[in-house]
Amino acid sequence: MTVRVLTGITTTGFPHLGNYVGAIRPAIAASRRADVESFLFLADYHALVKCDDPARVEQSRLMLAATWLAAGLDPERVVFYCQSDIPEIPELNWLLTCVTPKGLMNRAHAYKAATDANAGGEPDDGVTMGLFCYPVLMSADILMFNAHQVPVGKDQVQHIEMARDIAQRFNHLFGQGQALFTLPEAVTDAQMQLLPGLDGRKMSKSYDNVIPLFEGGARGLAAAIARVVTDSKLPGEPKDPDTSHLVTLYDAFATPAERAAFRAELRAGLAWGEAKKRLHDAIERELAPMRARYEQYMNRPELVEEQLLVGARKARAIAGPFLQTLREAVGLRRFRPLPAAAAPAAGPATAALATFKQYREADGQFYFKLVGPGDALLLQSAAFAQGRDAGAWVGRFRKEGAAALAGAPVTLVADEAMVRAELDRLPQAE
Ligand code: TRP
Repeated sequence: MTVRVLTGITTTGFPHLGNYVGAIRPAIAASRRADVESFLFLADYHALVKCDDPARVEQSRLMLAATWLAAGLDPERVVFYCQSDIPEIPELNWLLTCVTPKGLMNRAHAYKAATDANAGGEPDDGVTMGLFCYPVLMSADILMFNAHQVPVGKDQVQHIEMARDIAQRFNHLFGQGQALFTLPEAVTDAQMQLLPGLDGRKMSKSYDNVIPLFEGGARGLAAAIARVVTDSKLPGEPKDPDTSHLVTLYDAFATPAERAAFRAELRAGLAWGEAKKRLHDAIERELAPMRARYEQYMNRPELVEEQLLVGARKARAIAGPFLQTLREAVGLRRFRPLPAAAAPAAGPATAALATFKQYREADGQFYFKLVGPGDALLLQSAAFAQGRDAGAWVGRFRKEGAAALAGAPVTLVADEAMVRAELDRLPQAE
């Protein structure tokens, strides 16, 4: 069975080396596996929650898309799209919003962090409904495509659990015993978080210790590497590779043989300056061809757009019909002619026939009635002590049609002309 894996990337800011090693590179590697069906998208609706600067929103979308394409994402293998190109997602977002308990959203970490920051004042100061409902939109992203697995950082695991809760609730309410949505699972790779920044702490913009991926070009990379913090051991002095985050950075771009050699050289006294040069070369070996592609994409945004529209078409081919099913499930259905109206009294021979129903009431007496399509009552018999007497009349009506009405112990419930027309169709059909 193929596993459907889906990830979203919020389009704010530009990616750094930690994002590349932790998220971009492994996701692209995973997307090449034959047993994986990958969905990867730019979460630009989510970006609006954090950013109200249109120029930045636009620029970030382009940079992120160009980064993924340059890093080797194959749009043939991966359904690669922009969230805001899929109108089915905001529609599903609403269907989910209507079954999401507000209390569940109250517990979201991002919302709680925002209210905690307002301690003492109005708890909801600066909190938009976009921030509050963020996990519902994320659920729509995931459930729209029935993803099995969602690779995310640890900070997002709670959101995936919320998506499961919401999916379960929706299934329960509208699935009629069947699961409309697959319950997604968060996949966190412990290794994903570990790339250290310049100072050895986790690489993060909030620590201002990042090594940019493509931003600033080759020179930007070299300048950042020059700032990697080391101890003050002099050239020739033995160095401990196991306590140096420079070595951890190197490892992320080196082969096992190179890693071993690098450690040996440091122990033998390799100068830090030289070590930085090795680090730079290892990173540059991998990034240089990507950077060239990145710059091509940044110079020709229309090529990026083209790829995203191909992805959007693929995604909508799945989302459209599925959303139709979901609309039906919640009761947003097309009005259709009622079955009764489809069988006019003197309608074509293909229209459904009226039928006789024989039954016994609690009073022990036997009855029959004629019902049209849609169970409209046309004719009602009187009571018979014997079932076979009721059956005999039914037999006569079937053979003679309306002619049998004369003297029959029945009451016409519907318009007489219509009942006669229906009865007359019965012998013809025999
Ligand atoms: N919220 C995620 C983040 O900030 C991005 C995201 C949006 C996402 N929708 C998603 C991730 C769906 C996985 C699945 O990282």
